[in-house]
Amino acid sequence: MVRVLFVCLGNICRSPTAEGVFRKLVQEHDLEQHIEVDSAGTHAYHVNQPPDQRAQGAAVRRGIDLSSLRGRKATMQDLEEFDYVLAMDRENYQNLIGIGGASEKIELFLRYSQRFDDDDVPDPYYGGANGFEQVLDMIQDASAGLLADIRRRYSL
Ligand code: 4NP
Repeated sequence: MVRVLFVCLGNICRSPTAEGVFRKLVQEHDLEQHIEVDSAGTHAYHVNQPPDQRAQGAAVRRGIDLSSLRGRKATMQDLEEFDYVLAMDRENYQNLIGIGGASEKIELFLRYSQRFDDDDVPDPYYGGANGFEQVLDMIQDASAGLLADIRRRYSL
């Protein structure tokens, strides 16, 4: 099993969106038996809460249901158990290193994007609705690149 963890700050906007988008892609490629997907936050503000209504609404319009997801905080154990620990921005990348120490598993998620040259998926929490569309555009593109990387690395 290849284990993928997406990480943002609150685990209610960007990382649950990435979890939903990437899980759907994995299902479309019939790889659920091989790839496990989860998400977490580096802060505990929204533990046990469902994704932000704006994130859920934007995802539903692209055919992705985030309603069953609940916030949780990333742990040291996550850094041991997951094969890919993908930070949504540089702040969360640093937060993860603070939790578990430097590791080649910890990467910026947008490293897998072809279309976006940025380091960070911008935090949409305090912005407008367009921020959530931008988050989805970036996440969908990087998800395709990530799946290609996993298939190559694990011969799937
Ligand atoms: P996320 O967005 O990290 O993409 O889930 C945020 C959610 C909540 C807060 C910040 C960012 N907050 O400050 O509560």
